[in-house]
Amino acid sequence: TMRVLVLFGLVAVALADVARFEGEKVFRLKPVQDEHVAFIKDLAKSIEVDFWSPESAEVVTVGTDVDIRVPAIYLDMLYTLLQQSDMEHSVLIEDLQAAVDGQADLKPTPRAHSYTKYNTWTDIVAWMSSMTSSSSGLMTKQVIGNTYEGRAMTVLKIGKASSSTKPAIFMDCGIHAREWISPAFCQWFVKEALSTYGTDSQMTSLLDQMDVYVLPVFNIDGYDFTHKSNRMWRKTRSRRSGSSCIGADPNRNFDAGWCSMGASSNPCSDTFCGYTPESEIEVKNVADFIRRNKSTIKAYLTIHSYSQLLLFPYSYTYDLAADHNELMKVAEGASSALRSLYGTRYTSGPGATTIYPAAGGSDDWAYDLGVKYSYTFELRDTGRYGFLLPESQIKPTCEETMLAVKYIAAYVQKNL
Ligand code: ARG
Ligand code: ZN
Repeated sequence: TMRVLVLFGLVAVALADVARFEGEKVFRLKPVQDEHVAFIKDLAKSIEVDFWSPESAEVVTVGTDVDIRVPAIYLDMLYTLLQQSDMEHSVLIEDLQAAVDGQADLKPTPRAHSYTKYNTWTDIVAWMSSMTSSSSGLMTKQVIGNTYEGRAMTVLKIGKASSSTKPAIFMDCGIHAREWISPAFCQWFVKEALSTYGTDSQMTSLLDQMDVYVLPVFNIDGYDFTHKSNRMWRKTRSRRSGSSCIGADPNRNFDAGWCSMGASSNPCSDTFCGYTPESEIEVKNVADFIRRNKSTIKAYLTIHSYSQLLLFPYSYTYDLAADHNELMKVAEGASSALRSLYGTRYTSGPGATTIYPAAGGSDDWAYDLGVKYSYTFELRDTGRYGFLLPESQIKPTCEETMLAVKYIAAYVQKNL
């Protein structure tokens, strides 16, 4: 019985090993002077701060809001420091654990896939299979490789079957593990594509003429980890001997000005660029797939959250992209289409000037490879809930985002 008890004890500890966020808060700081920026950078060095927006202290500048998550044990210290500073600040989330618990709808839901829930990876796998089987040939699945932990990365190819290769759009979701609204959008998109083909004239013409490749979850290991162990995880889950820190930021690991700015070479940082470009197997698998299909892929869309932005190259340099004017025009058209539904306002522009320079991103990499229409979406919201967007907002967010994605797709189709 002793052994049994010890075993139960171990199992209980293993089951209980889920990060909790009781008493943690998310603050919004408003630096308007150099001293404020210095204050934030010092803060990041002296206490444990999780940067929600922007992603790291290094890219903080005068005039941009900074959202940070602060563990309960540092709150007294932070309040004291803030009192000594004259920087404007507010509390976005009073109690993070309450926000985590409040994210899921209360209405009883059967434990299965739902478009208005944040689905687990297991549910998404089953969903992909059943959607493919019931698509009457409109959708096929292909595995483009495995993740670090061995999960199959499956790309869904949606489009009317054709004997000749069609021009295509590639879209991925879930590069960053904690941005749950992103995979929810990819699933919504697949549902809309399959269910409106044949009735919606734009969708029908799009899928007749083009294929859309959808990767519903890019960083599957990280996504699974946010469901099982730590809701606030961002990176991949790869390990290397020599460092006890896990994972790299997949959106700093692409071969585009790699690790030159807005990224960290410290493996413990949340914006770690990795050991080499494409060191993360998930990044390599996607890059290989896009390189293989380079001649057909006309647009690259990547879905993140939060901030309500529609970004395009470049982020690794302040230089404007050769296609800047056209990319801007399409982004503004897409943003107004999005706004027309619920009034949600998006800001569009090149990454470097619209938010901050950050090298190694998939958008810049795809653009430099020759995929002209390369866009990063940062979906809802602007910080009220941040990564913890309630499930009740999945439907409106996905509906409005569909309008923007369809706007871009229609433009690309017209300009083949
Ligand atoms: N919030 C996104 C990130 O930090 C923005 C990506 C913009 N593109 C880029 N290449 N940095 O990954
Ligand atoms: Zn992201």
